Amino acid sequence: MEIFIEATQEKATALAASIVAGSIAKKPDLVLGCATGRTMDRLYACLIEDCQKRGLSFSEVKTFNLDEYIGLAKEDERSYAYYMNQVFFSKTDIQLSNTHILDGMTSDFEAECRQFEAQISVSGGIDLQLLGIGQSGHIGFNEPLSSLGSRTRDKKLMRITREQNKAFFNNNVEEVPESALTMGVGTILDAREILLVATGEHKAEILAKALEGPITAMISATVLQLHPACKVIVDEAAANQLATLEYWKS
Ligand code: GLP
Repeated sequence: MEIFIEATQEKATALAASIVAGSIAKKPDLVLGCATGRTMDRLYACLIEDCQKRGLSFSEVKTFNLDEYIGLAKEDERSYAYYMNQVFFSKTDIQLSNTHILDGMTSDFEAECRQFEAQISVSGGIDLQLLGIGQSGHIGFNEPLSSLGSRTRDKKLMRITREQNKAFFNNNVEEVPESALTMGVGTILDAREILLVATGEHKAEILAKALEGPITAMISATVLQLHPACKVIVDEAAANQLATLEYWKS
């Protein structure tokens, strides 16, 4: 694991975006695992700028999104499918047929998740997986006690997770769906490279547990310690509870 500490949120997300852009420059048909959330907003904004002003092309890039709420249609502006189209895809030259997001309206979760895993395999596997981290320590929506070998499946969301995401639901936690479809921890670990981005003081405590604590299914992000090619990009605020802070700063 390598940890990069940047002075500000803006610098951290710009660095993450430059790593993604560099990977696409090396492999134009990159298979990119996409994440959602406020952290990713800025990262996608940087990539859009690279695309619109600096000639970065997504025309051959394939994407697989980490997760989707159960019960929200892709036309629903609170769904991750809608978010991805609005915030990222529609502003780049990506082909929508190359983008893959779990269908939160499916009546058959198992078949949907099996098909999603099969599509990842057919694409040759995920080259670079973007990740944020939730307050519960989740990656994707892998809540505490998710099996560290889990594959894509449905998952009940914790109250803390629903609270964390209520801003997108009229600030009303009751409106946040109770469950989601998510790539499994094992699915995420299969990616060739992983890029975890975390910014802000509110991420400091869980980040320190995730990166430096014992590996436990109680905090699915701790499994990243097992990945041979995981980069973590943080701002100073998110880094400030790391016991190894000085080591990574110097
Ligand atoms: C949601 C997503 C996660 C994401 C997390 C962090 O819970 N399912 O994949 O990492 O939000 O979001 P934010 O960047 O808004 O803190």
